[in-house]
Amino acid sequence: MAAKYPLMRNNIAREDLDAVIAHLQQDDPILTNGPQCVAFEQEWSKWLGVKYSVFVNSGASANLLSMALLKIRHPEGGEVIVPPLTWISDVATVLQNGFTPVFADIDPRTLAMAPDQILAKITDKTRAVFLTHVQGFDGLTDGLIAELDRRGIPLIEDVCESHGATHNGRRLGSIGWMSNFSFYYAHHMSTIEGGMVCTDDAEVYQQIRMLRSHGMVRESNDADYRTAWREANPELNPDFIFAYPAYNVRNTEIGAIMGRSQLKRLDANVLRRTQNLQRFLERIDDKRYQTDFKLEGSSNYAFNLIMKAADPEYVQRLMATMRETGIEFRRGSAGGGNQLRQPYLRGIVPKDHHLAFPHTEHVHFYGFYIGNFPDLRDDEIDAICRIVNAV
Ligand SMILES: Cc1ncc(COP(=O)(O)O)c(C=O)c1O
Repeated sequence: MAAKYPLMRNNIAREDLDAVIAHLQQDDPILTNGPQCVAFEQEWSKWLGVKYSVFVNSGASANLLSMALLKIRHPEGGEVIVPPLTWISDVATVLQNGFTPVFADIDPRTLAMAPDQILAKITDKTRAVFLTHVQGFDGLTDGLIAELDRRGIPLIEDVCESHGATHNGRRLGSIGWMSNFSFYYAHHMSTIEGGMVCTDDAEVYQQIRMLRSHGMVRESNDADYRTAWREANPELNPDFIFAYPAYNVRNTEIGAIMGRSQLKRLDANVLRRTQNLQRFLERIDDKRYQTDFKLEGSSNYAFNLIMKAADPEYVQRLMATMRETGIEFRRGSAGGGNQLRQPYLRGIVPKDHHLAFPHTEHVHFYGFYIGNFPDLRDDEIDAICRIVNAV
C-alpha cells in the first residue's frame, strides 16, 4: 500500500510527459544523445552559473567521471577527503579510481563535513575534498573555501541532494572545481535517471565529455583539442582514438526533454519546499528534535527528523508510530547512515573506525529523512508534526 506521507509524490508532471510525447510524435525523432541533451546542458549551465555541463545517466555516473578525471590528473593516486554521511557512490568511485578515502565527521547543523574536520585531515597526499551538500543544506563556509584555495586543494561538490541551494547567493555546484548533480526520481527534479557534471574548467569539460563516451577523442567539441590528439596519433583512425579507459554513461533525448521541462519549475519548487521545511521546523517539538540547522541558502527535498537524545527505546517507538501512521522514512538519512559501517568498506578502513565519527553515528541511529515535496499540503505537514510530537 502506498504510504500516506511518501518520500516523494508527483515529481514527474503531466507537462514533462507531454513534452516527451510531442517529441515522439515527430517522424523519426532522435532518441539517443543529441540536440536536446546539448540544449539541456546549456540551460542547466546558465541556471547554475557555470560555463560547462555534461549530462550523464545518473548522479553516481557524475561521481564516477569526476573521480576518473581526478585520476587523469593524479595517476599516482593519493587521498580524497569524503564524508561518512553520503551516498555510496561518493566513496565507491574514490576506491574505484585507486584513491584512498579519508573520512571527516559532519557538522550537525549542515550534515556536511565540518570544515575543521576537513582541514584536520589534509596531508601532502590530499588530492581533493569531495564534499556532499547533504539534503539541501549549504555545506560550505567562506573559511573553508579560502583555506582550500590557499592550500591549492580542489573542491568537488556533490550537489545531488541540494539543487537550488546557495552559499552567499551563489548556487551550490558553481563554487568548486567540479560539481555533480542527480536527477533521480526522489530528488528536486527528475529526468527518470540522470546526472550532470559541471565545471568552469575548459579542459575538464573536454575530458569529461570524452570520459562519458568511451574516452573517445571525437566526443570533444573543441576542434583544437581534437586536432592535438589526432596529430599525436597519426596512425589511428581519427574518429576512433580512445584517449582514456572510460565508460558509456550518456543520457538520452528523452531524459533531456524531461530535464528542460522540469528546470522551468525548479526555482518555484525550491521555494515551496523551503516554506514546507520552515513550517515543519516551527511545529516539531524542539525539546525532542533538532531544529538548529543552517537554513540560509538551503533547498531541501527532505525533512530531517533528528532526535536530540540518543534514546534507543524512543527511537523504536518513533519508527513504529511512523509505520503505523503511514509516514515513509529512511533511518540514517538518505544513504543508509554511516558509510563506515557498510560491508563494502570492511578490510579497507580499520575495524571500528565508524566509532570515530560521533555526529554521523548519531544520525545513523537517531536521524530520519521524511519526504518534502512541492504538493505536500500544510495540513499534511501539520499532521506529520502532530504524530511525531505525540510519540
Ligand atoms: C549525495 C549523492 N550522491 C550521488 C547520488 C547518486 O545519484 P543517482 O541515484 O542518480 O545515481 C545520490 C543519490 O541519491 C546522492 O544522494
